[in-house]
Amino acid sequence: PHLFCLYQRRDISSWLDRWFPKTPAKSVVALKTPIKVNLVAGKTYRWCVCGRSKKQPFCDGSHFFQRTGLSPLKFKAQETRTVALCTCKATQRPPYCDGTHRSEQVQKAEVGSPL
Ligand code: FES
Repeated sequence: PHLFCLYQRRDISSWLDRWFPKTPAKSVVALKTPIKVNLVAGKTYRWCVCGRSKKQPFCDGSHFFQRTGLSPLKFKAQETRTVALCTCKATQRPPYCDGTHRSEQVQKAEVGSPL
């Protein structure tokens, strides 16, 4: 192939690696207590997975701008109700809080750091 094409291809793949890392970053602990939110039936929400959003418990695009390779969890509310959404990002039942934030591991972790 033409030298210029080779150069271009490498350029594109390094761009892809930069924005879509092959090894995603770890989620960080955003907060150590859940946030209660009123979900509206039929509405779609994007729960922050990476822990870097400033609009907890929802996504503000930080996963993308900080090139974490992670994506938010999209879910649709089946009914209108108040739920506790996880902010420690260690729940086994995302996006809902399952009490994991009370564990020693989460309590000892630093906010803004991975577990
Ligand atoms: S806030 Fe994460 S399990 Fe409760």
